[in-house]
Amino acid sequence: MLCTAEGLGPKSVSLKGAATPVRKGPVLETARLTLRPLQALDAARIAALACDSGLTRTTASMPHPYSRAAAEAFVAGAAAADLHRDVVFAIDGEDGDLVGTLGLSLRDGAHRSDLAPELGYWLGRPYWGRGYMTEAVSGALDWVRDEWGKRYVMAGHFADNPRSGQVLINAGFLYTGEVRSTPSKARGGEAVAMRMMVWLA
Ligand SMILES: CC(C)(COP(=O)(O)OP(=O)(O)OC[C@H]1O[C@@H](n2cnc3c(N)ncnc32)[C@H](O)[C@@H]1OP(=O)(O)O)[C@@H](O)C(=O)NCCC(=O)NCCS
Repeated sequence: MLCTAEGLGPKSVSLKGAATPVRKGPVLETARLTLRPLQALDAARIAALACDSGLTRTTASMPHPYSRAAAEAFVAGAAAADLHRDVVFAIDGEDGDLVGTLGLSLRDGAHRSDLAPELGYWLGRPYWGRGYMTEAVSGALDWVRDEWGKRYVMAGHFADNPRSGQVLINAGFLYTGEVRSTPSKARGGEAVAMRMMVWLA
């Protein structure tokens, strides 16, 4: 089934007085943005913003077309996650509408102390080019240092997505030189070169 941008109508989700139970979790404020726990009511807007092959094809994990069911599964997965290992933030923009999401996940290393948080994110296309993601990433890095006590964070971007590389550079990441061949769901599982980067607190 093709995706649809219809959910762009109902915009923000108020954490106060919501009809469905409110998911708890960290809330971060940056100069223009609020990073907050995803709510079930966010699924329609996520599905609408992510109904964009130019967006999903630069991610590894988002399929295309991105269905409402995929958005609901994404929100449910975030709600069920252990917040000490996996956190997904909804990003609300200046007018309070959800503009994208950002996630941090601990990947297992050889030893427990090796656990490296990995960062992922996307923004709906109407919100590109305003410096939002650079701002959101910077806020999330402060949080992961303070709350998870981590001194480094890993991230990767597809080699054909230099815009994301620039976001990471702006937030203080450095290229490690490692390139991982990574399948992209939205490209039908095609393996794409992913350039790995690291941020040191
Ligand atoms: C990647 C993404 C989050 C960037 O969002 P954004 O709002 O444009 O990001 P920002 O405005 O904070 O910064 C973009 C930077 O890239 C630069 N840029 C834009 N197009 C570029 C290009 N083709 N090559 C290099 N840099 C580019 C901008 O100039 C800006 O840098 P500057 O502030 O130093 O001038 C957004 O495009 C997105 O969600 N894409 C789809 C999903 C995705 O790729 N997720 C990341 C997976 S790794």
